[in-house]
Amino acid sequence: MAGFSDRAKAIKPTGIRRMFDLAGDDAIQFGLGEPDFQPPPVAIEAFHRAMVEGRNKYTSTGGLPELRRKIAESWKHLDDSLDETSVCMTMSGTNALLDIFLAIVNPGDQVLIPEPYFPLYPPDVLICGGEAVTYPCRFENEFVPDIADLEKIVSDRTVAILYNFPSNPTGATVNSDQRDLLVSFARKHDLWIVTDEVYDKIVYDGPHVSFLGAGYDKVIMLNSFSKTFAMTGWRIGYVLSSHRVAMEQVTKMQYYVTACSNDAMQYAVLEAMEKASSYPDEMRIEFQTRRDLITKRLNQMEGVSCHEPKGAFYVFPKFDTPGLNSEQLAIEMLNEGVLCSPGSAFGASGEGHLRFAYTISAHEIDRGMDRVKTVVDRLRNSNPPG
Ligand SMILES: Cc1ncc(COP(=O)(O)O)c(C=O)c1O
Repeated sequence: MAGFSDRAKAIKPTGIRRMFDLAGDDAIQFGLGEPDFQPPPVAIEAFHRAMVEGRNKYTSTGGLPELRRKIAESWKHLDDSLDETSVCMTMSGTNALLDIFLAIVNPGDQVLIPEPYFPLYPPDVLICGGEAVTYPCRFENEFVPDIADLEKIVSDRTVAILYNFPSNPTGATVNSDQRDLLVSFARKHDLWIVTDEVYDKIVYDGPHVSFLGAGYDKVIMLNSFSKTFAMTGWRIGYVLSSHRVAMEQVTKMQYYVTACSNDAMQYAVLEAMEKASSYPDEMRIEFQTRRDLITKRLNQMEGVSCHEPKGAFYVFPKFDTPGLNSEQLAIEMLNEGVLCSPGSAFGASGEGHLRFAYTISAHEIDRGMDRVKTVVDRLRNSNPPG
């Protein structure tokens, strides 16, 4: 009988999108995980020029050699063995993630996933026939995982652990000592490390700490230009690993998923990397001002506590508003004209939290925070914490 796959039926729509559907046009938007910038003009011009020059065809599956070389070079300070063959261009980080799981997950295999998580992780494991097993990244620990928790859930069926620093939704990063412990855990259990570093250019209080170059070879990175050059709608990213066989397998999967990335766009990204390399920094400086503002405003509210995020452009504050789950709280915010995401959209342990993306102007953040305060004060007055 014609029906639908168990996997399609098992996967639920994301709780982030639901809020968008409910929002009015005049809501202050803290919902979207994309920079409120445009791509660098040199990239737009190069994109147009490339199309005019006839770069409108399939490329090799791995992508434009010059661009892959440029990307490999940009990570060479961490791993000298990287070259063009270490990179496979994809049509986004989302595409890259699926390629990686398709290459390393067998039916029944387990993949350890951080919680709170970027909502694509568990369904992508499921699509590949695997099982996502979540490990906690606790508020009390500034959302950094604890090895003791990982040791409790790792099993003979575990094949990989995914790390995401800077994190969506928490904004957490790791220092190199914490990174080394997480790498040792993977080494001890012979696991792939899948490292999602799409926010590597948005790190505030020091250099980005990557899982590359940490002395372990089973590391596969997914990355993207969505956030780096404000190109979310262009859909371009990559997989990078110095593990030759991993790259062969991933590149093979990429062929069957989308054949290759976009031809003209790869020239545009190359131009951005060559001629607009300071662009990500300019955005980061603006995000940092906003981060300082939103964290301060949230922590000034009774019943709200918020870590200062060290990367990405999200805050994930905890709300003490008894009697409401995070979805109900997000709806209360929406009724006051503030669109944000319920913590539960990032896994059950996100309960009690909301995610705010500070991808709007400082002025709008201020206006939005006035409204958040109104809601929190009202809820706490009508139902005081016990
Ligand atoms: C942690 C994380 N990984 C991957 C992605 C995917 O990015 P894209 O598919 O736009 O490259 C996102 C997008 O929000 C993200 O937050």
